[in-house]
Amino acid sequence: MKILVTGICGFAGSTLARALLAERPDLEIHGVDNLSREGSHHNLRALRTLGVRVVHGDIRLASDLENLPACDAVLDCAAQPSVLAGTAGSGCSPVQLVEHNLGGTLHLLEYCRRHRAAFVLLSTSRVYSIAPLAGLPVVAHRGAFAPDPAWLAAGAAPAGLSAAGIAETFPAEPPVSLYGATKRASEIMALEYGAAFGFPVWINRCGVLAGAGQFGRADQGIFSFWIRGWAARRPLRHLGFDGLGHQVRDCLHPADLAPLVLAQLDAPTDSAAPRVVNLAGGAAQAMSLRQLGAWCEQRLGPHAVASDPAPRPYDLPWIVLDPGLAARVWNWHPRTPLAAILEEIAAHALAHADWPG
Ligand SMILES: NC(=O)c1ccc[n+]([C@@H]2O[C@H](COP(=O)([O-])OP(=O)(O)OC[C@H]3O[C@@H](n4cnc5c(N)ncnc54)[C@H](O)[C@@H]3O)[C@@H](O)[C@H]2O)c1
Repeated sequence: MKILVTGICGFAGSTLARALLAERPDLEIHGVDNLSREGSHHNLRALRTLGVRVVHGDIRLASDLENLPACDAVLDCAAQPSVLAGTAGSGCSPVQLVEHNLGGTLHLLEYCRRHRAAFVLLSTSRVYSIAPLAGLPVVAHRGAFAPDPAWLAAGAAPAGLSAAGIAETFPAEPPVSLYGATKRASEIMALEYGAAFGFPVWINRCGVLAGAGQFGRADQGIFSFWIRGWAARRPLRHLGFDGLGHQVRDCLHPADLAPLVLAQLDAPTDSAAPRVVNLAGGAAQAMSLRQLGAWCEQRLGPHAVASDPAPRPYDLPWIVLDPGLAARVWNWHPRTPLAAILEEIAAHALAHADWPG
């Protein structure tokens, strides 16, 4: 099987390409990346030594995809991944965001139509509606927010919300952030293309992805940003809410996506499996910033964290995705425990102080 991975020099794309090859060494992996992510050239060299064929190209340009070889599947990992992308001061205008994240998807769907290739989108928890998540009644327990158990027990929660996390049935109406809207629109466009032109489409909604080699920027996920910042003794702040870092995220190693992506690509074209699934660490792999700080202190020594309770756009107190559907349908479970992910990031940060980010 030949797979085209877009954004292959980014964190998720490069990690997944390596993991796919580890699962199935006979795969032929091609990649395309515009190297816009600072540091992505590090992955370019490493991938080429593994035999991955990487082309410098931009998915915003249909013509950059014209000469790519015909592959059996596209795994789309190219995007501006920040929830703040498109907002003032993000360095990415709304039009640029839409061109990368939605226009790019459109060109890839045209590629799939031409070559009858399957399409797998790395989507995000940010497609879920902000209002019910921003207004979630939470209690702080052991340094972490959780949905108020009394409120859950009273049956007042919206569809798809439980202590296990946010399920696929949770509302996905706007507002979801400009970033979330580009990913939701990409999901819808991909499903429509698949239905209209008869190629398989799989939408994998990920929570925070984390692991060694991430560039340690806040827009790529808080776990790596925090650990790398702590190791380098950079100024860190508990932003928003009570300024105490009680906000919670779940965490998944992107290599853990590989077995599921392969199962999706092996499934028959008319498979009845749900086309949209959450793939995330879930409640078992969730922690608050405060708890992450406690872990960092144990592992890396003391470091003062400032407090700034001023609210930030799109910030939410608790985002934990419920991966139960993927477990039931595909028998998929995260493989890399949270502690191993954190240790991997810390070890990499200590060994590569000059790593970009
Ligand atoms: N990091 C996370 O926690 C997370 C969570 C959920 C979903 N995702 C999704 O996973 C995907 C990858 O995220 P990541 O964390 O690896 O980000 P990343 O920035 O590390 O990787 C993105 C890669 O895409 C490339 N790229 C960007 N625009 C491009 C374009 N127009 N043409 C070609 N290449 C382009 C960049 O150079 C980079 O190498 C994104 O689609 C993101 O929405 C990420």
